[in-house]
Amino acid sequence: MINQFDPTSRPMLEGVQGNILKAHGRHHTANVFIRCNPDDESATNTRAWLKSLVTNEVVKSAYTHLRNNALFKSSGGEIDTGLFACVHISAAGYEYLFPDDARIGRFEATFRNGMAGADLRDPDPALWEVGFRGEQHVMILLAHANPAELEKAVVDVQQAVCAFGFITTLERGNALLNHAGAGIEHFGYVDGVSQPLFFEDEWDTYKQQNHIRSARDVLFDPRADKGLVLTADPFGNGDANARGSYFVFRKLEQNVKGFKQAEANVASQLRLEGDDRERAGAMIVGRFEDGTPAQMSDEEGLINSAMLNNFDYKTADGASKCPFHAHIRKVNPRSGLLNGGMAEAKKHIMARRGIPFGSRTDGPNDGQIYNKPEGGVGLLFMSYQASIRNQFEVIQHNWANSEQTPDNDDPTGSGPTVGIDPVIGQGDGTRTGQFATVWGDRQSLTDALFPQFVTMKGGEYFFAPSMAFLNNINDIQQA
Ligand code: HEM
Repeated sequence: MINQFDPTSRPMLEGVQGNILKAHGRHHTANVFIRCNPDDESATNTRAWLKSLVTNEVVKSAYTHLRNNALFKSSGGEIDTGLFACVHISAAGYEYLFPDDARIGRFEATFRNGMAGADLRDPDPALWEVGFRGEQHVMILLAHANPAELEKAVVDVQQAVCAFGFITTLERGNALLNHAGAGIEHFGYVDGVSQPLFFEDEWDTYKQQNHIRSARDVLFDPRADKGLVLTADPFGNGDANARGSYFVFRKLEQNVKGFKQAEANVASQLRLEGDDRERAGAMIVGRFEDGTPAQMSDEEGLINSAMLNNFDYKTADGASKCPFHAHIRKVNPRSGLLNGGMAEAKKHIMARRGIPFGSRTDGPNDGQIYNKPEGGVGLLFMSYQASIRNQFEVIQHNWANSEQTPDNDDPTGSGPTVGIDPVIGQGDGTRTGQFATVWGDRQSLTDALFPQFVTMKGGEYFFAPSMAFLNNINDIQQA
């Protein structure tokens, strides 16, 4: 684990961009997707702009980012941490900047093929939103606590881009909070709880929040090595601290009204009554709306619910508490993963950095269905990882889109077909799962249908280059 206050960690942290090891934490964001013009002068101007972002300290290192966060905390939130920005380049972007350069071959093949070429059962790329069709070369993520200040930064980028290309799409994100101040997604569930932890102080907080007093209390250990998200930057020019991270962006639209109606239908089909009806949604997501894990409780309201993450999936429970198909169990089977258990499951974890998009006037947790949006809102899913193939694609392709469970309480390996992930599984639109009518009772498992309410509107694979790359971009020789 990294001790952010240890001076020996500084060169490593100065070598990478912020937001990878620790989230930027601002509530308002703009993802600006840029296509550069195909002439030499534009390519020169693109390089000059990327360099200016670090020279003018628009893009800062993870080290500066952490130092600002510490200042913000120690000032009791008085010191404004200002604009946050980080830059991402697609495979087409590297080809544009360094045509036919041999170093491009050192990026993983999955990244080089791009999201449009991936086998994810996504809608045809020709039907994606217009801004995501065709090439994007660079994506800059801007974030600020103050929306007006964010707007000024967006205008600066718009003006700069005129010198070398145009913006294909600008995706705005805004944090959505529940009554307790926890971040939620549009279906109303607390999100961003389970994350890999890279810093010692984060682990201390985790132990406190999850009532861990000794090693024996640890059921899910989120500690991770930086290698889970960082990898050598092929354009780092031999600098040992030049590390970058593969970045996945997916715009996922959510039909909230449809989802809430289907939750109610499942509750009725299972004959759940009163507060127990909330368990229908918890058996889809794997957590209640307030974050309480379905594996830990049959009702919401556990203390620290929005932070609880110290649980695993016990063999004796099977699918009777948290179903095998539930979103969080599909995408992180924890202890239950066949052929490898927790150690294997942890190799595929990503640092998730998503934020909701779209506005609405209803209360996401008001218990109503009629007033919920059917479109125009969703999640800008973003994640950092050391390998898109071994992390994001294992989760989306091998696990979420599969009818089988990677998680299996049968040691012989002949586990049940459990249906695809009801939240993000991409398939023919229908999915069947097994739901316990009585929490914890394996005899009460009952089949129920749940349709698809998340639609992929476009996205791309990127690489977040090292600080050394951005600093030296004008001096990097063609290879
Ligand atoms: C609109 C789309 C999505 C919604 C509504 C959604 C919702 C949620 C919620 C409510 C949680 C529980 C909070 C937490 O444990 O952090 C969660 C966790 C998670 N989601 Fe999603 N998610 C979406 C898309 C995705 C995608 C595309 C992926 C990856 C392919 C993904 C991977 C994960 C992972 C890895 C976790 C943590 C699971 C754990 O460690 O227990 N999610 N999601």
